[in-house]
Amino acid sequence: MTRIANSALRAKVTSAAEAAAMIRPGDTVGMSGFTGSGYPKAVPIALAERIEAAHAAGDDFRVRVWTGASTGPELDAALAKVDGIEFRLPYNSDPIAREKINSGKMDYFDMHLSQVAPMAWQGFLGKLDVALVEVAGINPDGSLIPSSSVGNNKTWLDRADKVILEVNRWQSPALEGIHDIYYGTQLPPQRVPIPLLRADDRIGSNYFTVDPAKVVAIVETDAPDRNLPFSAPDASANAIAAHLMEFFAHEVKVGRMPVNLLPLQSGVGNIANAVLSGLVDSPFTNMTSFTEVIQDGMIDLLDTGKLRMASATAFSLSPEAAARVNADMARYRDKMILRPQEISNHPELIRRLGCIAMNGLIEADIYGNVNSTHVMGSRIQNGIGGSGDFARNAYVSIFMTPSTAKGGKISAIVPQASHVDHITQDVQVIVTEQGLADLRGLSPRQRAQVIIANCAHPTFRPMLEDYYARALKGSYGLQSPSLPGEALSWHQRFIETGSMLV
Ligand code: COA
Repeated sequence: MTRIANSALRAKVTSAAEAAAMIRPGDTVGMSGFTGSGYPKAVPIALAERIEAAHAAGDDFRVRVWTGASTGPELDAALAKVDGIEFRLPYNSDPIAREKINSGKMDYFDMHLSQVAPMAWQGFLGKLDVALVEVAGINPDGSLIPSSSVGNNKTWLDRADKVILEVNRWQSPALEGIHDIYYGTQLPPQRVPIPLLRADDRIGSNYFTVDPAKVVAIVETDAPDRNLPFSAPDASANAIAAHLMEFFAHEVKVGRMPVNLLPLQSGVGNIANAVLSGLVDSPFTNMTSFTEVIQDGMIDLLDTGKLRMASATAFSLSPEAAARVNADMARYRDKMILRPQEISNHPELIRRLGCIAMNGLIEADIYGNVNSTHVMGSRIQNGIGGSGDFARNAYVSIFMTPSTAKGGKISAIVPQASHVDHITQDVQVIVTEQGLADLRGLSPRQRAQVIIANCAHPTFRPMLEDYYARALKGSYGLQSPSLPGEALSWHQRFIETGSMLV
């Protein structure tokens, strides 16, 4: 059964190959997709085939790809594999694309996710030739029912010269009504406050609008969102969750947080997901979330009734959880809102609502500067994503990580971060399985002592203590004691020997 209820648009149904043929070498294509959901699943594969054929014939054919965030193997992997992406923004977690980026074959700009749509409107990112957007259906009046992610789709549909739609029958029809597409954003000097006062406020429409004259092709698909399963919380993740639960209980006790906490933001990755699972067994009830993605742990929290509602821009579910949610979407729909990412991650709203931000990290230094993105300072893992949007503007900004990586060879707490995404002022709490460092109101020297004592792994703690003691004696200045010639030597040792250990 077709989900295209508008006859004029139904006449534009075509094959993925024919739709892909409308994308030209060098085009900038704004694609849907956010953390493995709602991305186009047929046209990117057909485009990759076309690119491969062009390369075989000796022709240069690459495109520039903008998305909401990470997508799925049918998009990033398919295009990266054939060296079809010249430039990519704003977030990637696909391993093949990551390899191309880290080997210098693909240019990549990881951006604050809230800034992508405004910067596209401001003209900072260049021209958008094509929007390639998955939707769940098309209404008789030509408006579009969004899919399992909203991301930047509104902006791509408005800004692109040409629009290609994928209408995916796999998406639950009960998604209709979950979305809240706000059309009130303006550019300065016309910009006005966004009228959202509570995480569960609805301020927009259930649908996208699109100029039908711009729609050049529609492809019908029937393919699932493909996401990886989360790893089951291990002892380390459970310990991190336990430290956080104790922290929240303390904050409630001293009157710095209400008994139902404040709107939760939970970052991407296994640890963030594990912390949500920890909240299932916590005493907190009637919680809300104002976050970027709805992960498995958030579904568990909704199922217990402890979480009253979740606001996000996308699902990011394991295959098992996606099947569970899809089968029961009509019930979940009343407890969830999916918004454009410029709203889900908006600094004004995060600050107003007082979100509790909980994000993962690659490494933190002894002063609380956080590296979320670059392994050994140069190799990108994923990207900054929404962590900066939330960390800077949150009521309290928490970062969490196991204290070591790669089987204990790498310390997550280092003398100096090899790359900084979040400066010390945006990092209020650091948690590892070893303990929690509450850095609020502390000077750099006080921070160093608490981070080393509470968060570092016992194997690396004496090395950090030794470094810090010598820095106190030999540093040029004593505000943030440092030995520049040695501060990154742990990373260099890892690169040379495969271990940060001496
Ligand atoms: N050095 C080298 N590798 C490291 C590392 C370090 N200090 N810390 C983590 N890693 C590696 C892990 O070994 C793992 O690699 P693998 O996939 O080869 O096993 C990978 O990074 C993921 O680490 P993991 O411990 O499983 O944590 P995670 O799934 O919780 O992800 C981040 C952690 C930092 C990668 C992830 O949170 C992220 O991408 N953050 C940036 C974006 C963000 O915060 N978005 C949220 C906005 S709402």
